[in-house]
Amino acid sequence: MTHDDFTAQTAAEFLSRFGRAADGVWSAPGRVNLIGEHTDYNEGFVLPFAIDRRTWAAVGLRDDNAARVTSTFSADEVEVELATVSAQTLDGWSAYPLGIAWALGQNGVELVEQRGFDAHIASDVPVGAGLSSSAAIECAVAIALDERWKLGIDRPTLARVGQLAENEAVGAPTGIMDQSASLLGRRDSAVFLDCRSLRSEIVDLGFADAGLEIVIIDTKVSHAHATGGYAARRASCEAGAAALGVDSLRDVSVADLDRARELLDDETFRRVRHVVTENARVLATVRALRESGPLAIGEILNDSHVSMRDDFEISVAELDLAVVAAREAGAIGARMTGGGFGGAAIALTPSHLVADVTAHVLEAFAAARFTAPEIFTVAPSDGAKREL
Ligand code: GLA
Repeated sequence: MTHDDFTAQTAAEFLSRFGRAADGVWSAPGRVNLIGEHTDYNEGFVLPFAIDRRTWAAVGLRDDNAARVTSTFSADEVEVELATVSAQTLDGWSAYPLGIAWALGQNGVELVEQRGFDAHIASDVPVGAGLSSSAAIECAVAIALDERWKLGIDRPTLARVGQLAENEAVGAPTGIMDQSASLLGRRDSAVFLDCRSLRSEIVDLGFADAGLEIVIIDTKVSHAHATGGYAARRASCEAGAAALGVDSLRDVSVADLDRARELLDDETFRRVRHVVTENARVLATVRALRESGPLAIGEILNDSHVSMRDDFEISVAELDLAVVAAREAGAIGARMTGGGFGGAAIALTPSHLVADVTAHVLEAFAAARFTAPEIFTVAPSDGAKREL
């Protein structure tokens, strides 16, 4: 289905479910993180881009104060009163769209004075692949409500609203990267974000001109950041920063690592070393893209994977195999992307080798008796926008 078809179908579905036309249709993309993993909540640097897989939200205001949401991923219709919506009582998929309404309230919007809304949501961002299907829902709803409620909130602030919904309504202690990529992304470009100042720059990727594609290898190994490893890594980073006497690991440089090794236990040291060297790799990637173009970043992506595998320990056997097999078949660089413990790897691949990389990775997974991965390419795309 084309994106125009999605827009039209989401509007048509709104009409049939709610018996009136939507006020409009808004969409927001998923994201791939090119590099800069587990750096966002350490006030570091990230370099994600928005992808050509999106979520559509058809939204229409109501005359009362109720918010009602439906979607293509569940038969449930969920309804709340805006005046009493609370992060604690939201759950399931509706916590993403309704969490945005709640988070806008936390941001100073008087929810009791707003008109309620109906929303119908559809998506072609794969769920659970580490491509931020959740941020795509949040951001589509955030720009729709911002426009229809005439709030005039800037996009960096809307990203924070999305993060708050994710942290409190969904319960995942994630950083600011995913929502920033979804809201600020630009075609053929990445978003270079300083997660301390929240200043961002658009960096030209030039993949097409260099004859390169980004291949996604979705391992189908599921990850959930509301539980387990993600929160544990975050806690290790906070413990490392405290032991080193800094506010966040952003304040630790590569030159400080020798001293850190003396002060920290081995595991905490390796967690810290990942974050510190990953920040340096983001800066090196931006420099290489600007000075030499994307053919120059392959080794940096490979180094990032090794650091996540050995120091941060967030990779899994399937991700490691995806990376190795993709490189064997000609990818110039590959790494796992996103929070880890499953999800997807990315492989920066010459266009004429995409078929070889795909076939070789599938063979390697079959030989290892792993579940067959889903493999597809994505293109750096525009961020959230009104479609209709
Ligand atoms: C998840 C989180 C992000 C970020 C990444 C790791 O995608 O949502 O905030 O922390 O993991 O880089």
